[in-house]
Amino acid sequence: MTILHLRRARTSLVLDARGPGLPRVVHWGADLGPLPADELPALVDATIAPVVPSSFDAPTVLSLLPESSAGWSGRPGLAGHRDGRDWSTAFRLDGLDVVDVAPEPSRVAGGGEAVRVSGAERDLDGAGAARVTVRAADPGAGLTLTVELTLDPTGLLMLRHRLRNDGDRPYEVRDLTPVLPVPAVATELLDLTGRWCRERAPQRHPWSMGAWVREGRHGRTGHDATLLLVAGTPGFCFGHGEVWAVHTAWSGDHVTVAERRPTGESALGGGELLTPGEIVLAPGAEYATPLLYAVHSTDGLDGLSDVLHTHLRARPQHPRAPRPVTLNVWEAVYFDHDLDRLRDLADRAAEVGVERYVLDDGWFRGRRHDRAGLGDWWVDDDVWPDGLQPLIDHVRGHGMQFGLWVEPEMVNPDSDLFRAHPDWLLQAPGRLPPEWRHQQVLDLAHPDAYAHLLGRLDAVLTEHDGIAYLKWDHNRDLTEAGHGGRPGVHAQTVAVYRLLDELRVRHPAVEIESCSSGGARVDLEILRRTDRVWASDCNDALERLSIQRWTGLLLPPELVGTHIGPERSHTTHRVHDLGFRAVTALFGHHGIEWDISGITAAERGQLAAWVALHKRLRPLLHGGRVVRVDHPDPAVQAHGVVAHDRSHAVYAISRLTTSVAQVPGPVRLPGLDPARRYRVRPPAGLPEPAVLELTPPAWLASADGVTLGGSVLASVGLQLPALHPEQALLLEVTAVG
Ligand code: DGJ
Repeated sequence: MTILHLRRARTSLVLDARGPGLPRVVHWGADLGPLPADELPALVDATIAPVVPSSFDAPTVLSLLPESSAGWSGRPGLAGHRDGRDWSTAFRLDGLDVVDVAPEPSRVAGGGEAVRVSGAERDLDGAGAARVTVRAADPGAGLTLTVELTLDPTGLLMLRHRLRNDGDRPYEVRDLTPVLPVPAVATELLDLTGRWCRERAPQRHPWSMGAWVREGRHGRTGHDATLLLVAGTPGFCFGHGEVWAVHTAWSGDHVTVAERRPTGESALGGGELLTPGEIVLAPGAEYATPLLYAVHSTDGLDGLSDVLHTHLRARPQHPRAPRPVTLNVWEAVYFDHDLDRLRDLADRAAEVGVERYVLDDGWFRGRRHDRAGLGDWWVDDDVWPDGLQPLIDHVRGHGMQFGLWVEPEMVNPDSDLFRAHPDWLLQAPGRLPPEWRHQQVLDLAHPDAYAHLLGRLDAVLTEHDGIAYLKWDHNRDLTEAGHGGRPGVHAQTVAVYRLLDELRVRHPAVEIESCSSGGARVDLEILRRTDRVWASDCNDALERLSIQRWTGLLLPPELVGTHIGPERSHTTHRVHDLGFRAVTALFGHHGIEWDISGITAAERGQLAAWVALHKRLRPLLHGGRVVRVDHPDPAVQAHGVVAHDRSHAVYAISRLTTSVAQVPGPVRLPGLDPARRYRVRPPAGLPEPAVLELTPPAWLASADGVTLGGSVLASVGLQLPALHPEQALLLEVTAVG
């Protein structure tokens, strides 16, 4: 058939699809420039390994679906069987369609005028997305495979397999995982792990032989989910190094894997983790994998974020209206709902510039604590005798939007719903899963449970005038999650997506936040149908610096909720100045999670100034390019956002702990135009961070700050003031002339 060379932005993908077997990725990485058609076969030949002793007599092929029949002895791309038969495949290429989608910046996943090409070697460097559909079959095994591969205009690659059972008996899919090869120069791995209140902790290690397998069996994405699994050249960092990364976009059980074989191949992949018996395809039925997002950069981790953020921002559903500054009442009142108190909080919120007010857990029937009520989605008449409308009206009277917390998939055994429908639960036959926060999980693949829930959520939104936002929570793992006696996580995940999609159709103006005990449901599939994520239940600014930095590897700031917490953090008991908390919360979808009715007028004045600053900088923060500083001192963390025209930027430089060195060394400001000059200074009118110095650095002594060239700021940098630990300096950078 053909050898394809797809080029988009700074990425090239060369696919050897000459058959007869499945296509092989010959190159996924840096843009190779335009290649003459006659060079493509030579390029393919240049990448074919020699035949060595004690091996197959022909080179093995690591295809898009690695197969034992092609000599692959690593993790198989497909594991499955039909009553113990058809357990190995030898797919043959049937055909290939390449659709060169006409460029349209805001419609990377949409239709568009298509040019269909096939046949000879092709070099495709169009400006829209390139979509390749590979059709293959193994008639002996009774299976058809379709590989869907999209290279979007940003250089982001998306890969999905579809497997159809063409046999006349059921076929069980145990595992179907797309993979992409990565060159041997990638010798280090970086991935993320974590737990409640400490999401996205990075871990790094050499990429040694074997498989590094990150499995999530939580029935949700998981606090420990690695948003990206990154492989790169030695010492790669935010600003440097060549890196390849994948993201498995799935909110149920999933796996992301890096495998390096002694035979010489390295690959990254990801798919769904299936429980035995979970996917059994009836004759004619099909299973589709989650999308595997794959991204390459020659400019370190920041380059990965550039591609991902640009891709996400180009989606038609990406939230484009200014992200409203949000006050969430959870840490202010917990379950203690009282209309007067909540109205007062709304007054205070309006006073400091809040634009969206979110009523959290505790408003519905029987929900006086976390041991009862979940599932009974009716307003609690005892606590809210006149319903929620008076509060909604009060909030809206201040010009703020009103948002409401829900946790639709969950049910407390102490609830009317549980008592009425004990059969609507995910469970193994004959026993309930262990309780977690006193709750069980509704089986959304049960049609009646699904219909009931859709009806209640729809009613809550319809019966109230002015609910603009749902905070959609999910506070437990799924354990022994059976549906009708069979494993049920897949069906549950698909049903939740369907529920969200249906609600969005019915209430298109309502925004939805994905929250899951903080950041346990952060992935690109949930984000197709939600408008932001709650990164963590930890509002401690020191912890948040790391959580946000690593969440931001995948997501642009406007998709990540970042709130100013109380002076003493509820989850760590640390105490922080407002300045440190505000600077940290500035770089995201900004908000407040603090009982501001109890603070002084002076504090409210300062808070209002920080909120006003966020609003002034919001277009930059939510549209610009995110950069992080590779500072040699681990006690210093710095990051910024630079406007795409590089006329304006804002950087935060935080001191995490004391340093061994008295002066940690200058901070370089990346991302600016080396040919332009910039004025650098802290924004006026805000309190300065606490410092331990007799004399500040000379450039900070003047209210005008300093004016320097972009190349100087990037290559030399600025000496920091001697910040105390847990203090942050904010710098605004403006091009002059
Ligand atoms: C967990 C969430 O992450 C919190 O923000 C809060 O909404 C609680 N659930 C409410 O129960």
